Formats: sequence, structure tokens, C-alpha cells
Amino acid sequence: MWANCFLPGLALCLEATAVMIDKEGLPDTGLDTSNWTTGELPPISDMIDINDMQFAAKNTLSGKNYAYYRTAALDEVTYQANLFIWEKIRLNGFSFVDVSDINLNTSILGYNFSAPFFIAPAAKAGKASAGAETNLAKAAGAAGILYVPSISSSENTSTIGAAAVDGQVMFHQEYIWSNKTKLQDELDEIEAAGFKAIFLTVDNTGVNGIRDRSMRFTSGSNSDHSATFTIEALNQLRNMTSLPIVPKGVKTAHDVKLCADLGFPAVYISNHGGRVVDMAPTAVEVLLDVHKQYPEVFDQIEIYADGGVRRATHVLTLLALGARAVGLGRPFMFANVYGEEGVTKAIDILTLELTTTMALMGQPDIAGYRGNTTFINTRQVELEYFGAPLDVDPSSSPTSIPSVSSGNATSRQ
Ligand SMILES: Cc1cc2nc3c(=O)[nH]c(=O)nc-3n(C[C@H](O)[C@H](O)[C@H](O)COP(=O)(O)O)c2cc1C
Repeated sequence: MWANCFLPGLALCLEATAVMIDKEGLPDTGLDTSNWTTGELPPISDMIDINDMQFAAKNTLSGKNYAYYRTAALDEVTYQANLFIWEKIRLNGFSFVDVSDINLNTSILGYNFSAPFFIAPAAKAGKASAGAETNLAKAAGAAGILYVPSISSSENTSTIGAAAVDGQVMFHQEYIWSNKTKLQDELDEIEAAGFKAIFLTVDNTGVNGIRDRSMRFTSGSNSDHSATFTIEALNQLRNMTSLPIVPKGVKTAHDVKLCADLGFPAVYISNHGGRVVDMAPTAVEVLLDVHKQYPEVFDQIEIYADGGVRRATHVLTLLALGARAVGLGRPFMFANVYGEEGVTKAIDILTLELTTTMALMGQPDIAGYRGNTTFINTRQVELEYFGAPLDVDPSSSPTSIPSVSSGNATSRQ
């Protein structure tokens, strides 16, 4: 952006004004954008946290492409709630623990990954980079984390599958199209391309959400999603592939329990990043409701969750509430403006935050957080959401406190 052109008609002005990015109310961590040029990729060395990636994408992408990734449904109440629910949660950290050996290894559906977070399915990675989904697959493969490409990707299923490094496990997302031939063909392609499981998105019942931000650039498109997706239809679909199916986009404790009772190996709590039902609850609230109404579900199936996850502290919160793994959608799409390098950097940022936070909280093993509510205080959310705190273990002690005489403690003379 040029300014201070003193002579009217002068083509070249000598002074550039600082780029000011509207940070949309996201936490201010001191990012200095004054040396950025609008429309150009900022130095990747400026990227210190995950939100920085969003600002870099906003600075670089066209308004239309940024809106495509950023948009959410109606008034974006759920989009905002996803991002800011974390402010109501407190983490309990403990001292006097050996944290020299940090372990992030996590199994998801029985496959081993190097971290408990994964790249959630998000359509059209090609709007950020010519390398599109291949960038995401390669970065995930190199880091050993899970990537789940969208069926609405820029690249086709076999191209993304072929980008896998040796031994890399990926799952694939699928929508419930009203056209059953298309659905069957895609399920077959996914299986043939080597993907190991299907995340079946069940929250776009017949239509997409109404998303003002993107509708200012393009008219809404016909979704082609089935509007008659009943339990009978779900059971028929289970016979269309031999891959395990994980329903994604489950938004209530009721439907979490239903999926568990229907015998799915896992369920994925998600409000689609606030892009479907506005005013739907966050994953934190749904997980608390599962604790309240159907606590047995945590022993029945694996639970994955997403929505507004931008920090390791958010990942640990969802794990402590019982999630096995946690997805991030927009952050990796934004990071992809830097191509594979950007996606790798986003993975590194989150990994460093995780290892650091785990050491500081006194639990070096990621498995020690899972389902362990002693590490979190969610009372404020419970009060607001249920009107009273839940009747769960009110203590904040991960282990019993050793008596003073135990261990090497010596009494003072
Ligand atoms: C640009 C974009 C495209 C998406 N496309 C899909 C999709 O094709 N299938 C799907 O199941 N979810 C899709 N999602 C939802 C994500 O899988 C995920 O639930 C959501 O992004 C998580 O919220 P977050 O962006 O705050 O991390 C999309 C999300 C975004 C932002």
C-alpha cells in the first residue's frame, strides 16, 4: 500500500505505509506486520504461533480465497465460541515430577502417530498453494502425524494417496452424496488409494451452512448432500466399504452415544469449524455433556474432536476431557500459503508448545492427560452451560500426595 504521493499523477510514490492486518480479535502476541507488503508472503521467520499463519494468509491470499477458508455460518457465534472457550478453562500443573522424557506418541484407530493432533479434512487446499493437498500429505508424513484429506480436495484422491511417504497412514473424509453411484465410486477410490479409514461427515444434511463471508464473493452452490440420511441409510452405507467408518460432525452427546451404540469404532465431535449450525456447542461443551449423560461412552469408543484448536493447551484440554486425538482445520490451510514448509512449521510450533506445556504441567506422557480431568478446571463452562458444576471428581490431584516421611525427605534437626 503506497501513501504520501505529493504530486498528483506521479506513478511511483517513494514511501510505503505499514501493513495493518485486522487481527479479528485473536490474541495479541506482539506480531509486527509493519515490514509486510500487502499481497506478498511475509517472512516465515515471523511465524511464531498458529494465529500468525492466519494473518500471513490474510495478507497474501485474495479476499475471495481468504474468505473461503475463514468463513463460518450465519453470525459466526459458534466460530467465535470455538476460538474463545479456552479463556474459561484453567489448567492444573504439578511440580516435583521427573519430566525429562516427554512422550507424544498416540494411537488413532490402532495406528501409531507421533502426536495427538491431526490435520482435519478441509476442502480446496489449492486456493492457498499450487502444491495443494500434496503439501499437507508430505508434511504430515515427514512429521508422522495423521492427515485426513477432504473428498472436496483440489487434487484427486489417488494423487494425494500417492504423495504418502513409506509407511505413512492417512484416513480420508467422505460426504454422504445423494447420488449413490458417486458415493460408491469414491469409497472404492479411497480404499484403492491406500487410505485406512473413512471420516464420514454427517453434519451437512442435504445442504451446506449459509456462510455470508464467502457468499459475498460467490453464490451458494448446490451441495448434492443426501437429505434422507437416516440410521437405515447409515447402516446401508456401512456395507459399501470394508474400511472402518468414523462419523464426523457429531454435535450432541445424544448422537455421540448413538454412534457408540451403533458399534462405530470411533466418533468425531465437530461443529465443522462453525460452518454448519450456528450456535451449535463447542467440543468442550459436548464432551462435558457426554461426561454428564453417558460417561460409559469413553470406555466404548475412541473420540476425536476439533474446533478452534490453536494451541497445545487447547489440545491438552480436549484430551483431558476424554478425546483421543484433536483436529485442526483452518490453521494448516493457512500455513499452506508457505507450501509444505509452512505446514511443517505449523506442526513444529504445536509440537514445541505441547512438549513445553507437558513438561511445565508435570506430566511427560501424553497418555497421562487423556480422560484425566485433574489437569483441567472447567467449572466456569459447566456453570454457564449446565447452570451448575458437574458432579465429577472435584480434586485437582493427579496422584496422591506423598507423606512427608516418605521418599528421601529428611526431617529438620
Ligand atoms: C475451508 C474449510 C473446508 C472444510 N472442508 C471440510 C470438508 O470438506 N469436509 C469436512 O468434513 N469438514 C470440512 N471442514 C471442517 C473441518 O474438518 C474441521 O471440522 C474444522 O475446520 C475445525 O475447525 P477449525 O478450522 O477451527 O480448526 C472444513 C473447514 C474449513 C475451514
